[in-house]
Amino acid sequence: MANPLVTLTGLGRRYDQGTLALDGLDLTIGEGEFLSLLGPSGCGKSTVLRLIAGLDRPTAGRIAWHPAPRPLGFVFQEATLMPWANVVANVALPLRLQGVPRAERTRRAEEAIAQVGLAGFETAVPRELSGGMRMRVSLARALVTDARVLLLDEPFAALDEITRFRLNDDLRRLWQARGLTVLFVTHSVFESVYLSTRIVTFTSRPGRVAAVLDLPGGTRDEAFRTSADYAALCRTASAQLAAAMAA
Ligand SMILES: Nc1ncnc2c1ncn2[C@@H]1O[C@H](COP(=O)(O)OP(=O)(O)OP(=O)(O)O)[C@@H](O)[C@H]1O
Ligand SMILES: [Mg+2]
Repeated sequence: MANPLVTLTGLGRRYDQGTLALDGLDLTIGEGEFLSLLGPSGCGKSTVLRLIAGLDRPTAGRIAWHPAPRPLGFVFQEATLMPWANVVANVALPLRLQGVPRAERTRRAEEAIAQVGLAGFETAVPRELSGGMRMRVSLARALVTDARVLLLDEPFAALDEITRFRLNDDLRRLWQARGLTVLFVTHSVFESVYLSTRIVTFTSRPGRVAAVLDLPGGTRDEAFRTSADYAALCRTASAQLAAAMAA
């Protein structure tokens, strides 16, 4: 790998009541990758994301950054917003925690809000927004600190297909424009093939790498989505997932 960003070696996580979520996970994530993690429910995908984010500690193995690109952006499956605060305040929260002065954090929040296509909704509160819009607010909050690495845990699972496609395109565009490294957990083979440069499929619990699929570069658009190449790649990824689940 040209530019490794983080290397997971023999990574394991056993929870207190005995569940072995991960065991012997070896994986290197390269700078600038759009890496999707696919795998059966309960195989440890969220656990890996939390370990990489430093929100939890491994019980075996190690995580080596080359070097640590702080801050990281994290988007949870449920948009975790402050219900009483407007969009600007929600997006600006990480800056407030960093002690950035108000004028600057408002300016930077407004910039991030525009980047995710929410200009005009700065003063709306979460209950006035659709699920897709709330997810965009979460994404803006992850981007506002100029994070170079985004960790996304099934961010679009609860959205309708059209909204999901649109957010897929927006995310891919942001990844390209900002030179991000993205680690993306999804249950959707179609989404992972559309978005990623590489798909890593996990075994059933305890999770480790079952298969790796490299994807072609190039444009992602409606033409790609309806191409024979895309269909063939989806079949390969599906077969890898099925094999991992049967193993
Ligand atoms: N905080 C925790 N305490 C105890 N067990 C946990 C905890 N978090 C996860 N687990 C267990 O670890 C295993 C892996 O969980 P994890 O959430 O990482 O799976 P996942 O691959 O993200 O699943 P899904 O696709 O359903 O989101 C599961 O068996 C789960 O019950
Ligand atoms: Mg999960």
